[in-house]
Amino acid sequence: MKTMHDVEIKNMLRMAKDAKQRAYAPYSHFCVGACLKAASGAYYQGCNIENAAYSPTNCAERTAIFRAVYEGEREFEALAIAWDGEDYAAPCGVCRQVLAEFCEANLPIICANKEGDYIIRTLGELLPAAFTKKDMA
Ligand code: THU
Repeated sequence: MKTMHDVEIKNMLRMAKDAKQRAYAPYSHFCVGACLKAASGAYYQGCNIENAAYSPTNCAERTAIFRAVYEGEREFEALAIAWDGEDYAAPCGVCRQVLAEFCEANLPIICANKEGDYIIRTLGELLPAAFTKKDMA
């Protein structure tokens, strides 16, 4: 995992927390925010966007990465996630797979809890033996 400076971690956590305020979560009332840093240096924020039919709900992490990919980004350096849970945030399985399409296994994921405490895990730890385009070569 690339080393992350404390200032960068705090900055990304702040942006993830800000993004959480934009969550559209009238069904679960569980608000999540994400901040993804691209290799270009740009930051992309995302929130969860729920749906009355439930399954079309988009998680904060996917909102962030889809916004970034639309803007032309294809490489990423770090992800921060903020939510109001007791435990440290952890992307769902679908988001892990979407991240694996564009991010290396050493991507640092800064996972915060409602207190703002955090741990850093890598995408590879969260999705070992991922199925990716390399498997289709
Ligand atoms: N959610 C996220 O946005 N990210 C996660 O990492 C886990 C779950 C959202 C989806 C749904 O809107 C709500 O949290 C409850 O599952």
